Amino acid sequence: MSGFVVLSTGSHMPMVGLGTWKSAPGQVKQAVLTALDCGYRHIDCAAAYGNEQEVGEALALRIGPGKALRREEVFVTSKLWNTKHEPEDVETACQTTLTDLGLSYLDLYLMHWPMAFQRGAEMMPRREDGSVRYSDTHYTDTWKAMECLVDEGLVKAIGVSNFNARQINDILSMAKHKPVVNQVECHPYLSQQALIAHCRALGVCMTAYSPLGSGDRPWASPNEPALLEDSGLRVIAERYDKTPAQIILRWHVQRGVTCIPKSVTPSRIQQNLQVFDFSLSEEDIAQINSLNRNDRFIVPAVDRGRERVWRDAE
Ligand code: A2P
Repeated sequence: MSGFVVLSTGSHMPMVGLGTWKSAPGQVKQAVLTALDCGYRHIDCAAAYGNEQEVGEALALRIGPGKALRREEVFVTSKLWNTKHEPEDVETACQTTLTDLGLSYLDLYLMHWPMAFQRGAEMMPRREDGSVRYSDTHYTDTWKAMECLVDEGLVKAIGVSNFNARQINDILSMAKHKPVVNQVECHPYLSQQALIAHCRALGVCMTAYSPLGSGDRPWASPNEPALLEDSGLRVIAERYDKTPAQIILRWHVQRGVTCIPKSVTPSRIQQNLQVFDFSLSEEDIAQINSLNRNDRFIVPAVDRGRERVWRDAE
């Protein structure tokens, strides 16, 4: 199994990238530097993470004439936030991300979610009663504006995130530039078997976010199952003399799913890339598949209250 997938555009996307969601300001620059220095060639970003300027500071130290890396050696992804879905806002949002990251182009630009929020500067526009203000802008209209970014050379490819099978079909039915990637929550407790098969049949690569279960998500409850402490995974990890995190990441890789583990800890950043020197047996893959419980940790912020109610009712 190679360390990259070939996207439908022909470009190469490294199977393991560094995730930057939840990486705090003051920590993410060093995390990106550590990652690039130990061999990562794929960094996953988003405007909504609020740290693209700091990621850009790290990229500037390592990429460019006279630096360790050439721009074309590093695959950089970013995402269009929900308040920027109005077609006339899309290019400005992309330009802001490019300025923050200090880049002249992105390798991949994703629509972060299929739903639009009211346009404006506020990330999470809310009514007085706390409910989120949505907008009627349809993702197919946003997609047309994203296609212009490819034509203008601001991005090499476009894709989607958090899209289900029907929504991907909607995009494919009207797209001039096909989505090359669907980035969704995926880990052994949410194995996404059907969505992976659907995407694969359409030539859309799946990327797993929260590939390790995102135990550091702000709304995590101590009563929730901790994926990295799953006893079944621990047993497998001991047998391969690897950590549970490495076992999970290898499982993603062997399924052909690219993944973006987040860490700000140097030893973990290094460890998470060391998943290409062993293979899981078919039995162990099957055992990890059997851990699936369709347990979704990440739902749109607007639904978090409902999620808590739903979890409490279980
Ligand atoms: P930290 O950033 O403090 O190193 P996900 O990628 O699923 O969002 O998971 C991120 C969480 O997993 C963070 O809390 C991160 O901690 C932790 N993490 C990342 N890599 C490892 C690893 N190899 N072993 C244990 N925990 C890890």
